[in-house]
Amino acid sequence: MNEFYNKDIISIKDYNKDQFEKIFDYTQKIMNLDPSSRREICKGKTLSYLFYEPSTRTRLSFESAMASIGGNSLGISDISSSSTQKGESLADTVKIMSIYSDILVLRHPLDGSSRFASEISTKPVINAGSGTEEHPTQAIQDLFTIKKEKKKIDGLKIGIIGDLKYGRTVYSLLSGLGNYDVNVHLISPESLRIRSDSIYEIRKKLSFTESTNLEDYIEDLDVIYVTRIQKERFPDEEEYLKVKGSYVIGLDLLKKMKDDAIILHPLPRLDEISNDIDKTKNAKYFQQAENGKHTRAALLGLILNENGF
Ligand code: CP
Repeated sequence: MNEFYNKDIISIKDYNKDQFEKIFDYTQKIMNLDPSSRREICKGKTLSYLFYEPSTRTRLSFESAMASIGGNSLGISDISSSSTQKGESLADTVKIMSIYSDILVLRHPLDGSSRFASEISTKPVINAGSGTEEHPTQAIQDLFTIKKEKKKIDGLKIGIIGDLKYGRTVYSLLSGLGNYDVNVHLISPESLRIRSDSIYEIRKKLSFTESTNLEDYIEDLDVIYVTRIQKERFPDEEEYLKVKGSYVIGLDLLKKMKDDAIILHPLPRLDEISNDIDKTKNAKYFQQAENGKHTRAALLGLILNENGF
């Protein structure tokens, strides 16, 4: 039996390097398959999605991934159109959706929401973003993109820039990177430094520096991972306005980077990467978004097929 069969994906902390490498191999396998063979992988299976927060990439890449491997999707992307509006609980909503599908994808603003849902659901649950704590499938696509573009992860110098306090992708990525031998530099405004209570475990596996000054590191970095300042999670708009636009990757900064440095971003972006960068060979964030579809197809194929594919 394949080790991912029928399992939830709640936290990236549940995975080790061997498992990442297996997922990367299956992702590459999916990418290499011809479309008709690919459509056999989840033929007749149904994915349901339940999104209590907005999404473009995560929800649509899951739908697109499921279609590409022969399955179908149904779900709730606008919670105001669901019976949640009548007061139905998350628990009952999850229970019902797990009756109608083979796997459930959940995004919810509360930390712990996916873990809670997995205890209710009779089908595997995938965390598509829970509060400010985790976005594990984003980290898998990020690690896959780094490996694909740089041909390795060990030995790289990786800068993570922007909103390190509220950006949940950062916490999952750091946990994932803890399985590799990398140098990480965290660069953020003082008020958006990484939450020390949330990285207690990560510190045991990963060494990193913290700074407010991107220019001190930019020349050395192999990977520049930029994040959006998460306005919606600030308790006070005044505080957001103080840090808005703190770091902007433009052509001036690009000149200081290594020639083969790659620029990643989980997206959506606002003004933190200028549009001029998009056409450069260093910009890999749209490729990263495309890889999200392939990594998610591989994960769905592995969870829904006892013997893999
Ligand atoms: N990266 C990401 O989670 O994007 P969405 O919010 O659009 O899903």
